[in-house]
Amino acid sequence: MACTILRKEELAPDINLLEIAAPMVARKARAGQFIIIRIHEWGERIPLTVADYDRDAGTITAIFLAVGKTTEELAGLASGDGIADVVGPLGNPAEVPRDSVVVFVGGGVGVAPVFCEAREFKRAGNRVISILGARTADLLIWEDRLRAVSDELYITTDDGTKGHHGFVTDVLAEILAEREVDRVVAIGPAVMMRVVADVTRPSGVKTIVSLNPIMVDGTGMCGSCRVVVDGKTMFACVDGPEFDAHQVDFTLLMSRLAAYREEEALSLERFHGEKTDGVGGK
Ligand SMILES: Cc1cc2nc3c(=O)[nH]c(=O)nc-3n(C[C@H](O)[C@H](O)[C@H](O)COP(=O)(O)OP(=O)(O)OC[C@H]3O[C@@H](n4cnc5c(N)ncnc54)[C@H](O)[C@@H]3O)c2cc1C
Ligand code: FES
Repeated sequence: MACTILRKEELAPDINLLEIAAPMVARKARAGQFIIIRIHEWGERIPLTVADYDRDAGTITAIFLAVGKTTEELAGLASGDGIADVVGPLGNPAEVPRDSVVVFVGGGVGVAPVFCEAREFKRAGNRVISILGARTADLLIWEDRLRAVSDELYITTDDGTKGHHGFVTDVLAEILAEREVDRVVAIGPAVMMRVVADVTRPSGVKTIVSLNPIMVDGTGMCGSCRVVVDGKTMFACVDGPEFDAHQVDFTLLMSRLAAYREEEALSLERFHGEKTDGVGGK
């Protein structure tokens, strides 16, 4: 389905918010799900998690980090521009417990999908503790929105410019040492989710991560999003994207994410060249 960008906003350096008109997706979207977009006819398909939705307005919000060719191209679009295809909602919605103490851990742009889930968990009567982390204070996003749906909120920055000087996992370890927690949900870079799994493993607290392998079709047909969970092959697009963190083979996930580094670098280089030559974006 072709969609129009209603709002495009740079929230932090290289971190952009995109609100698109997609009434059919908004009607069904639930926390934990994602969309796949293709900017134009020649574009690649990329998945983005649903960070927010408004069923009445018929809109979907995604937040993305410009890391390569397609996300840079997306960052160059403006309100009023069109996107050729938006498919979704895809993947399984997050499983929402009741009357539980849940710690959410959001790293980088992972904070946005954490907001969407934390809001749903809070509405279902859970006690929500959120830990939000970034490399530096300038890269923290949606702090106020997350605070509004959390009973407690902790901030960490790698360089100490705001909140705890260190990693989200330092605060998580302190919380786990002090009190009873029923569940931990972590969304962010693969390396962060892996460390969260290591921190919660000794106590056996149920830990859920949202996996981000390379995806193409998003419907279980192409096999590109293959992950191994509990020794079994799964497709993150249809079996996930959320899985039991203690069962995930993170080494495989991280090596598959890096499989096309050379091609990705070349594609970005060509894109920059095209922009300089005035060809741009095809
Ligand atoms: C279910 C899911 C939800 C996601 N949600 C978000 C989100 O909300 N915000 C956000 O910033 N990013 C999200 N991502 C990651 C995002 O899709 C990639 O950053 C994007 O595809 C990179 O494309 P590129 O051309 O800009 O960069 P490239 O240079 O092509 O790739 C940069 C890195 O991004 C990853 N990547 C590349 N292509 C894909 C692909 N088709 N699918 C998945 N990963 C890819 C690889 O690790 C690669 O090394 C999500 C990924 C998945 C699987
Ligand atoms: S993206 Fe093709 S099988 Fe999951």
